Amino acid sequence: MTSLPPRHRTSRLRRTVGLRDLLRETRPHVHDLIAPLFITDDPALVGPIPSLPGVDRIHIDAVNDAVEPIAASGLRGVICFGVPARKDDTGSGSWHASGVIPRALRLLRERFDDLVLMADLCLCQYTTHGHCGLVDSTGIQLDATLEVLRRAAVAYAEAGADMVAPSGMLDGAVHAIRGALDEAGHPHVGILAYTVKHASAFYGPFREAAQSAPTFGDRRSHQLDPANSREALRKAEADLREGADILMVKPALTNLDTLVRLRSAFPHAPLAAYEVSGEYAMVAAAAERGWLNERAIALESLVALRRAGADLVISYRATRLAQWLAQGSFV
Ligand code: PBG
Repeated sequence: MTSLPPRHRTSRLRRTVGLRDLLRETRPHVHDLIAPLFITDDPALVGPIPSLPGVDRIHIDAVNDAVEPIAASGLRGVICFGVPARKDDTGSGSWHASGVIPRALRLLRERFDDLVLMADLCLCQYTTHGHCGLVDSTGIQLDATLEVLRRAAVAYAEAGADMVAPSGMLDGAVHAIRGALDEAGHPHVGILAYTVKHASAFYGPFREAAQSAPTFGDRRSHQLDPANSREALRKAEADLREGADILMVKPALTNLDTLVRLRSAFPHAPLAAYEVSGEYAMVAAAAERGWLNERAIALESLVALRRAGADLVISYRATRLAQWLAQGSFV
C-alpha cells in the first residue's frame, strides 16, 4: 500500500497558549521603545494636547517629574521636542544655550544616568514661518540652514544628548551634523536620522502639539514622496555614507514595505520606526468610541513593525506599551 502524503496542519503549533508562546517569532520588548516628549517653556502651553489624547506638553521645570514614571516603566530612551515660547525668523531658539531643549537636556542628564537622551533637531518649531529651515522667496536656504543645525547639534551634545535626530529631511544634514559634532569634541554622540520621512498627512496632530505647521506652503520639496520606494533606498544609502548611526522610517504602518526593503538592503544597519501622531490619534479616537481595543491594536502594530524589521519604535504610547508588555503575553 502506498503511504498517505503528510497532511499539513500548521495549526498544530497554534493549539494552546503554551505552544503559541513557544513558537512566537517576534517578541517585542520594553527596550525596543522610545517615548517622545513635548517640552515647553511657555506656561500657557502646558497640558493636554487635544488631538493626542493622553499626551501632554510638559513644562521645562517639571520635566524630571514627567520622565520619572517613563524611566520607571523600564524604557531606555526618550526623544525630546521643544515647543518654545518665542520664535524668530532664524530659529535661534533651537541652538541657544538657554533654549528649551538645551535646558531640558541638562536637567534630564543630571537626574537620569542610564536613560538615552535623544533630541529632535529641526527648525520648524522655532521659526515664525514654521519651515524646517531658513527660507527666502525661492524656498529653503540649504547651506545657511545646515549651519544652524550644526550649532544646535553641538548645543544638544554639550547639554548631555546621547543622540541627535535631524528630522527635516534636508540634503547633507547628516554629514554636516557629524562634522560639527566631531569638530566640537563629541564623537560619541550619535545620529538618529529621519531617513525616510514621507511628506505625510499623518503629522497633523504633531503640528498642533509642537505648534510647527508652516504658515505658507508645505514640506513636499524636501520630505519624501509617499509614492516612492526606490528613492527611499537612495536616501538611506546617502545617510549611511554621511554617518547616520540609526536609520528611521515614518510614518510607521504605511511603511512596512520600506522597513522590509531597508532591512534587506542594509542588513547591518539599526532601523527605527516612528509611529507618528496621526497613527496614534486614529486609534485613540476609535478606542474612545469603543470601536477598537487600544491595547490589542497597539501591541499588534508594535509586533508588525518589529516583524518588518524595525529594531526600535518611537510611540506616543511607549509607557503604556511597556506596562502592557510587562503583563506578559502580548495578545
Ligand atoms: C519636525 C517633525 C515632525 C514630526 C517629527 N518631527 C513634523 C513635520 O515634519 O511636520 C512628526 C511626528 C509626528 O507626527 O508624530 N520636523
